[in-house]
Amino acid sequence: MALEHKISVVILAAGEGTRMKSDIPKVLFPLYGRPMVDYVLDAASCVEPEKIVVVIGHQGEEVANRIMDGWAKDNCMDGVISFAWQLERRGTGHAVSCALDHIPGCDAVMILCGDTPLITGDMLNRFVESHLSGEADLSLITAMVDDPGDYGRIRRDETGSILGIVEANDLLPGDRDIKEINAGIYIVDSRILPGLLSTLDDDNAKGEFYLTDILEKAAQAGYTVSSFTCDDVFLIQGVNDRYALALAETRLRETVLRNLCLQGVTIRDPRNTYIDPGVTIGRDTVIEPGTFLRGKTSIGQGCVIGPNSEITGSQVGDNTRIWWSVVEESTIGENVTIGPFSHIRPDSIIEDYASVGNFAEVKNSRIGRGSKIHHHCYIGDCTMGCKVNIGAGTVTVNYDGHKKHRTVIGNNAFIGCNANLIAPVRIGKDSYVAAGSTITQDVPEGALGIARERQVNKEGWVARRRQKLD
Ligand code: UD1
Ligand code: MG
Repeated sequence: MALEHKISVVILAAGEGTRMKSDIPKVLFPLYGRPMVDYVLDAASCVEPEKIVVVIGHQGEEVANRIMDGWAKDNCMDGVISFAWQLERRGTGHAVSCALDHIPGCDAVMILCGDTPLITGDMLNRFVESHLSGEADLSLITAMVDDPGDYGRIRRDETGSILGIVEANDLLPGDRDIKEINAGIYIVDSRILPGLLSTLDDDNAKGEFYLTDILEKAAQAGYTVSSFTCDDVFLIQGVNDRYALALAETRLRETVLRNLCLQGVTIRDPRNTYIDPGVTIGRDTVIEPGTFLRGKTSIGQGCVIGPNSEITGSQVGDNTRIWWSVVEESTIGENVTIGPFSHIRPDSIIEDYASVGNFAEVKNSRIGRGSKIHHHCYIGDCTMGCKVNIGAGTVTVNYDGHKKHRTVIGNNAFIGCNANLIAPVRIGKDSYVAAGSTITQDVPEGALGIARERQVNKEGWVARRRQKLD
């Protein structure tokens, strides 16, 4: 953008989003983990605007608070954003009128819709360049589509000059074959914008003041109206209903997965893999189908993740395998195996070469290098050393119904099957706990802890019983 050219951005976000059929304001609908309007703000900020004015109305306070506490704070843009109230929803043209007082002395106003989240900063910058180089008074982005659906259609004369826009509900027979649609993205010279808005009326199917009518007014007044063609129609997709939301999310997800593939990650079935933006994955890692990687997760090199696993906010080291399992807010080392059917709950650290599963749960615990927790175990609030063997069905009994208590297990300890370790308790290093024990006292280093009834065999018992029954 030419530096001497000052631009402000108006984002229309006051509508009710009726077609979403929801209590959530449309522009706050989560799209790939972030409110839809954040994507529009990201793109808008790329044109380095003097000011970004968000027009709010329906649930406006919620929209404004979310933007200020989220996007504005994260991007240090508090000083650039302001909000204009549109108290009654009387159409997109009326919404822009409500923003006029908030726009300082700028040369041009870019108008965006809060429900076109796939637009990119790169596209908007090219749009600004085209507006400036064409010395246009008013520019808009259009695209050619096979099925124009709900979009406004661009009317042109036989020489190709724009005559105006007709909304889907107001089409005349002659408009039915038009394939060029309005993206709802405009740049208007700020000197002519108030005048154009003041000429609008609500004489149309919806009884609203359509912003789109300024095109016809500008053309009739002899202003230079130019269009910028977007050749990737997905980028300008308006999200008016939840099906469009699903398509938008699919598109964003495809881009993230594609980039990961190009960086050396194998994703076996991109249509059935869900990876949040910002997740990092090392080379030669294979992501099997049905995998969800969420939040600030990082996966090392040479791992196999999935099938059917969910990892949230966790770090996973190189050459680790996690299959049919859930990992939350935890740190997993290198060459670890988790699963199948295991759950690593928050604040756990699983050190290198350890293995957990199948059917095991670990919570708020440190599992030392090379330790093994297999077959139906629960390990909670435990500090476990290295090379510990936990037998099938072992439980750290960490909760007395009131408070949580810790279990400490030293290096090389061997816990037999079906042991209950009643915390707080310490199992010394190199010690054994006999299978079936309920351990309530510390087991010293190198000792055998055994806490169970001795077995009694009653010789001939079965025959005596049969005699009695006969
Ligand atoms: C609008 C355009 C249409 C274009 C499409 C692109 C108009 C009349 N139509 O239709 O030509 O093809 O976008 O996606 O402009 N809003 C307000 N106040 C209002 C009404 C709407 O702030 O009184 C906001 C909405 O919150 C939304 C945006 O304006 O973010 C667009 O409104 P929407 O109802 O989605 O318009 P479309 O029917 O999609
Ligand atoms: Mg829309």
